[in-house]
Amino acid sequence: MTEQAVLTGKVDEIIAAYEAKPTALIMILQEVQEVYRYLPVEALEQISKRMDIALAQIYGVATFYKSFSLTPRGKHHVCVCTGTACHVRNSRSIVEKLERDLGIKRGETTEDLEYTLETVNCVGACALGPVVIADGKYWGRLTVSDTDKMLQALGGKPAAAPRAAGSGRGA
Ligand code: FES
Repeated sequence: MTEQAVLTGKVDEIIAAYEAKPTALIMILQEVQEVYRYLPVEALEQISKRMDIALAQIYGVATFYKSFSLTPRGKHHVCVCTGTACHVRNSRSIVEKLERDLGIKRGETTEDLEYTLETVNCVGACALGPVVIADGKYWGRLTVSDTDKMLQALGGKPAAAPRAAGSGRGA
């Protein structure tokens, strides 16, 4: 079975589970993203056809919510809070260290699809700042050197050698 056929079958299953109800579009997109870690364009086209919803409308929803991604995401998701409380406690140095170690800029995914690095403005845990959320787990009062331990705890492959600046793929 080709990769495309697998994708088609899986997306059809998800649509069927919601009886192709247009009101379930966001839930369907969430499930598709859970499976593929992003929303492949082929999946959006298929949803459009099967549910008779304009592709532009689906793109509108997919781009409105920050939790959706139209580009591949890494197996491990690292999100550094850069809100005011975390910023004054040095979150910028944490972002820069992770950028160096992973060889990507914020908003990017490593070429081996192991890590995605993002930043966010306040996750409501200011007292614990600086805060990093790694694969859903909160790491509070993180120091720059703690980031090594955090990446190890994710259990991913060691970060690839850093690439030259500007060679990253935007997310
Ligand atoms: S500013 Fe980082 S948790 Fe509020």
